Amino acid sequence: MYSKILGTGSYTPETVRTNADLEKMVETSDEWIVERTGIKERRIAGADETAATMAYKASLKALEAANLTANDLDLIIVGTSTGSYAFPSVACELQKMLGTTGQGAFDLSAACTGFNYALTVANSFIQAGNAKKVLIVGSDIMSRTCDPTDRTTIILFGDGAGACILGASEEPGVYSANVKADGSHSELLKLPTIDRNNPESSYLYMKGNEVFRIAVNTLSSLVVNTIEENGFQKSDLKWLVPHQANLRIIAATAKKLGLPMEQVIVNLDKYGNTSGASVGIALDEGIRSGKIKRGDLILLESFGGGLTSASALIKY
Ligand code: UT7
Repeated sequence: MYSKILGTGSYTPETVRTNADLEKMVETSDEWIVERTGIKERRIAGADETAATMAYKASLKALEAANLTANDLDLIIVGTSTGSYAFPSVACELQKMLGTTGQGAFDLSAACTGFNYALTVANSFIQAGNAKKVLIVGSDIMSRTCDPTDRTTIILFGDGAGACILGASEEPGVYSANVKADGSHSELLKLPTIDRNNPESSYLYMKGNEVFRIAVNTLSSLVVNTIEENGFQKSDLKWLVPHQANLRIIAATAKKLGLPMEQVIVNLDKYGNTSGASVGIALDEGIRSGKIKRGDLILLESFGGGLTSASALIKY
């Protein structure tokens, strides 16, 4: 038993935060941000938006694309670090918004690899015969987690949600979906939960250049191993759908695969790093733009806090 992608959807908020806007907030420049990251704009959630409302909008599009209703779902998994509550989970809030009930629904904490981690769990449920149709979503409001006076983080992150429905299939589909972690470097990238005695202490912390170095090394071997372990050649790959943290990391990963940038889905110029949502949004945009076509071999990869990393090799 395999799983395959039945439909995808995504949502990004209306409000745009440009590099020019950031020049007014912190000591930075459009030139520095574009050169070091590739980011030009990010979307910022409105005051009335939450990880759950964004997940809902992305999920409706995925359900429509899959020609399903919420009642068809056997399981809902949301990768997020920015839910409104420890409980209810974003997944349970989402289930309520979708007007369905009964199926399992839970959140999964894997930072920027949230979408890939959710996909891996969904794939395992389907392969084990415990679910036939699973909604996975990555949804994060990272803009609220950054200190607005910290130029090393506020320039990087944006808000959004990416959704995908995986369904049981007799043919692949998903050839492999794997998760990895290295907790020994956990101090390099941290998002504290709110200390109710000291709310200001809860901003995101990242030692950017060290995370950068580990990300490049980890992803370079991860993508090559994923292709080889599944008996494919690099040249079989049609599209790389990477986590959108930094264009230099993406370019280094593509180079390792011998893949021209024309075969890489890049949208971080528009959205920045949307953490758990980023791969889901990129996948949806790749499909809706007509770039990714049925039958194409695609590789999803991500890297983030934990430190976590993950990949998925999929025939769309
Ligand atoms: O998604 C989860 C995983 N996250 C990532 O993969 C992010 C990985 N890291 C990165 O993308 C990069 O490390 C950053 C974009 C965060 C930073 O780029 P960098 O090339 O590693 O720069 P750096 O941190 O080594 O800083 C270089 C210089 C420093 O100044 P000095 O010490 O050389 O004088 C910083 O203070 O750039 C300075 N700097 C800035 N200058 C203008 C740092 N942030 C800014 C800024 N504008 N926003």
